[in-house]
Amino acid sequence: MQATTFPLARSLQRLGTESAFVVLARAKELEAQGRSIIHLEIGEPDFDTPEHVKEAAIASLRANRTHYTPAAGTTELRTEIARYVERTRGVAVTPQMVVVAPGAKPVIAAMLMALLDPQDEVIIPDPAYPAYRSIVTYVGAVPVSLPLLESRDFRFELEALEEALTPRTKVLVLNSPHNPTGGILTPEDIAGIARLLRGRDVLVLSDEIYSRHAYDRPFASYYGLSGLAERTILIDGCSKAWAMTGWRLGFGVMPEPIAQAVTALILNTVSCTATFVQDAAIAALTGPDEPVQAMRDEFLRRRNLLVAGLNEIPGVSCRLPGGAFYVFPNVSAIDRDDLRLAAYLLDEAGVAVLGGSTFGPHGKGYLRLSYATSEDNLREALARMKSALARYEPSAG
Ligand SMILES: Cc1ncc(COP(=O)(O)O)c(C=O)c1O
Repeated sequence: MQATTFPLARSLQRLGTESAFVVLARAKELEAQGRSIIHLEIGEPDFDTPEHVKEAAIASLRANRTHYTPAAGTTELRTEIARYVERTRGVAVTPQMVVVAPGAKPVIAAMLMALLDPQDEVIIPDPAYPAYRSIVTYVGAVPVSLPLLESRDFRFELEALEEALTPRTKVLVLNSPHNPTGGILTPEDIAGIARLLRGRDVLVLSDEIYSRHAYDRPFASYYGLSGLAERTILIDGCSKAWAMTGWRLGFGVMPEPIAQAVTALILNTVSCTATFVQDAAIAALTGPDEPVQAMRDEFLRRRNLLVAGLNEIPGVSCRLPGGAFYVFPNVSAIDRDDLRLAAYLLDEAGVAVLGGSTFGPHGKGYLRLSYATSEDNLREALARMKSALARYEPSAG
């Protein structure tokens, strides 16, 4: 590459990546060479989008709903999102507080860009979904790590949060149910966090994209339960609950002045979200809930199968996660070098998984497996892992 011909902005060096997409590309390469690969790396439901949602998109296209919409989304969709949030979180929300974007990820990016100046501090759980840290460092702000503890089912200690808070803290990121650990916040955690934040000038980014994937107890929403919704930005969307990852439809709910700033960023980058996709999202939010519940029930069965199988593999120990569709087994008894182990499993066993340390330093010694694949695939992956790990030679040191 002739680096001098097209010098790229130095700021790009501060942009991170997402290992799920990197490993997916490598796994696809191996598949192209004829290898059989079981995909446990990417976080997207393998189910089809519910029929009524697809029908709504088709009807919208037939009605020629194929032109620009306002940058923040159509009034109809923003109104339905406000109703959905009121129904599911018990907080009164106006359509003016809602911003629609092509996925939850652009809302997260735009919202961090709208809020952060260089040197501002953002507290981020560790491990975490990589996009938070990537955008925080990209804009020159400072990520502060909040360790998640396996011994607490991957929740953090309130004392650790208290220590991490400084006068420079501008944003606290919460994500429950959590990617990559599957951990969930309890109502008690939420009350404790709110107690610590009351009276402080800290905004919470509450990423609740997995709100429909809580298994053993009802989903506890920070947005709904903290009593601090006026200082919280709720992130949610259609990708996970309605198996709509490729449609690209996410939304944020936030105080109006922030919504206007986020809208300005959306307007300057993507202009708006596809009109017929917005129409389909209305069908998702207002239509029958059975398809979402059926997918959730299937995920629950898969979770139980996968966790039981992992715990039968010598050297692997896996907690039963309360939500999302990931497990985060501890493999440090086999090798602390989770990246080497993940590469070995892909190359030797044809099982694509992610090294926990790609989600933050506290993910070292863990793997992330997504169970968004069939029970047959999970059984086959477990058998392959068991036999490959029995032959594994750990790294020195
Ligand atoms: C925690 C979390 N937030 C946001 C997203 C992004 O969702 P979307 O596909 O709607 O952009 C993901 C996707 O994996 C995620 O895991």
